[in-house]
Amino acid sequence: MMTKEKIGSPIAGCMRWGKWGANFSTMDYRKMIDFCLEYGIHSFDHADIYGDYTTEEEFGEALKEDPSIRSSIKLITKCGIQMVTANRPSHSIKSYNTSKTHIIQSVERSLENFGTDYLDVLLIHRPDPLMNPVEIAEAIEHLKQQGKIISFGVSNFLPHQVNMMKKYLPIQYNQIEVSVICLSPFTNGILDNCLAHQITPMAWAPLGGTLLTDDLHPHFRSITQTAAELAQKYATGMNEILLAFLHTHPSGIVTVIGTTKPERLAQAKKASNIKLSREDWFSLLRAAKGEDVA
Ligand SMILES: NC(=O)c1ccc[n+]([C@@H]2O[C@H](COP(=O)([O-])OP(=O)(O)OC[C@H]3O[C@@H](n4cnc5c(N)ncnc54)[C@H](OP(=O)(O)O)[C@@H]3O)[C@@H](O)[C@H]2O)c1
Repeated sequence: MMTKEKIGSPIAGCMRWGKWGANFSTMDYRKMIDFCLEYGIHSFDHADIYGDYTTEEEFGEALKEDPSIRSSIKLITKCGIQMVTANRPSHSIKSYNTSKTHIIQSVERSLENFGTDYLDVLLIHRPDPLMNPVEIAEAIEHLKQQGKIISFGVSNFLPHQVNMMKKYLPIQYNQIEVSVICLSPFTNGILDNCLAHQITPMAWAPLGGTLLTDDLHPHFRSITQTAAELAQKYATGMNEILLAFLHTHPSGIVTVIGTTKPERLAQAKKASNIKLSREDWFSLLRAAKGEDVA
């Protein structure tokens, strides 16, 4: 049975849960999944390549321990990047592949890895210069008809790439990098285009990775100082304010949080209910840009 619950903030990003980060054991995966469900976090973001093509399967091992979990969660995964790794000896160069055959094979492998018969969301990971929208549409139509994917989206696509694809098939999501230190989607048309076509933006690195680690950079200091002041005003934490900066945008940005620490996911869940006033939103924007708007 598939859960009807919408994909909301935060999505737990699993990129660093396995070999590309925390090296979770099956028990650790299970604990994280259980924690997320307890805190009302139902969606998990993957890609075929995470952990050099191993993280989906490790997550799947944890799901196998209690198959009833599947119907309470949303599984998001991506395909289209081909990495050079010992786990894919046939790849001789890092490249993109959005051919019909590759998309179908990649989804079938992901289903096997997770030990499930459907994915809630499939995303094309990066715009492929050789992508043929007719082939992509055929692959997605085929997978939907077989019940192997429920919905489809893209990732890191610019508006003209989304619009080209939209002529051939419905696009429900665009997963992009956006944060208080990556402001381009607010002005390059990505978010406007999401609003125009009711595409849900998913934000990766929504806290701005470097901002969290580089507290000496004077520019970042001005952002963290403003966020800390707002945190006091809203009786919350600084990270919640940085996420609220995204949640306040009318396009309905859903955040993808890459932490391996349960308490940080709980923090992100709290942030999903916070909206900033216009003036407070602009005070963060000013701190980020170093100047007032024109
Ligand atoms: N579509 C794409 O092209 C794309 C690209 C990159 C990522 N993603 C997805 O987006 C997710 C998030 O991306 P990301 O991992 O680059 O970015 P992120 O969520 O901004 O960063 C997570 C990193 O920041 C650290 N961190 C420190 N304080 C944190 C806090 N309060 N809350 C959360 N993290 C904190 C985490 O360490 P701790 O583990 O110690 O908390 C972790 O190393 C990934 O897991 C993946 O699912 C998608």
